[in-house]
Amino acid sequence: MQIITEPCQMQAIAEKLRLNRQLIGVVMTMGALHEGHLSLVKLARQSAGTVILTIFVNPSQFGLDEDLHQYPRPFEQDVALAKAAGVDYLFAPETESIYPKNHQTTLECGALGKRLEGERRPGHFNGVATIVTKLFHITKPHRAIFGEKDAQQLAIIRQIVTDLDLDITIVAAPIVREESGLAVSSRNIYLSNQERSAATILYQGICHAEKCIAGKMKNLPAIAAEIEQMIGSTPGCRPDYVVFVDEERFLPADTAEEEKEYRLLLAAWCGTVRLIDNSKFRA
Ligand code: PAJ
Repeated sequence: MQIITEPCQMQAIAEKLRLNRQLIGVVMTMGALHEGHLSLVKLARQSAGTVILTIFVNPSQFGLDEDLHQYPRPFEQDVALAKAAGVDYLFAPETESIYPKNHQTTLECGALGKRLEGERRPGHFNGVATIVTKLFHITKPHRAIFGEKDAQQLAIIRQIVTDLDLDITIVAAPIVREESGLAVSSRNIYLSNQERSAATILYQGICHAEKCIAGKMKNLPAIAAEIEQMIGSTPGCRPDYVVFVDEERFLPADTAEEEKEYRLLLAAWCGTVRLIDNSKFRA
């Protein structure tokens, strides 16, 4: 595995790979690699000849009150995990080479970037859109694998690919969960043992929704309200939002229509840690 830190060097390698007819798969991360990230690498390995993994804690997607400076950066451990997972190139640039002093151009997401996570974290998705697009240009992938864990992010990236006519196939990877049902996340390390077990309420909410929908309950906001109640009555937990959206536009859904796909999106605080989770349903 080769470690690259300069964008121009990564571009030159990607260009050469393309000239040699290699299929490039990219997995973008902020590091602190875990089973979720590694499942993306595995998918990339299955569908591309060369796998590029990027590690960059992107300052432009963090709010002023967020955890940019505390964000875990276990680089040596990440290198070992990436190597063992079969990554060919690890692109891990310094902030200054991605955002040099005079950097001024950014991407502005439309309506989808301003709802839900975008409403709670203003500017977050503009930061994500900008870095993901820059990393597309640097790594020149044919395929890019993103996790369903960040479902709204995935929808926004698909929108970018459509809106900017990017010739890249986006592959969605299913959510990797701990045995308890808790979705694996780099931020889970902030949870105390007590908070960690309380946090499983998000997954219990998803299971409750599954039962309701299997039982032909049609009123989606009513199911969401029940889940909010479940989260709110768990000690140490506070719901931020629980909402069903339609899978195409991510707009709040009301009555479940037969055969249509919906996604339940959950965000909640467990202690001082904000967690998100989601699941897709067919009514
Ligand atoms: P990060 O949170 O490190 O996640 C990197 C990728 O791993 C994302 O596509 C995310 O959806 C996926 N992922 C995280 N946890 C997962 C899980 N439990 N199961 C499956 N996939 C999981 O998302 C980002 O970084 C950044 O916003 C990034 C896209 C890299 C841009 O900076």
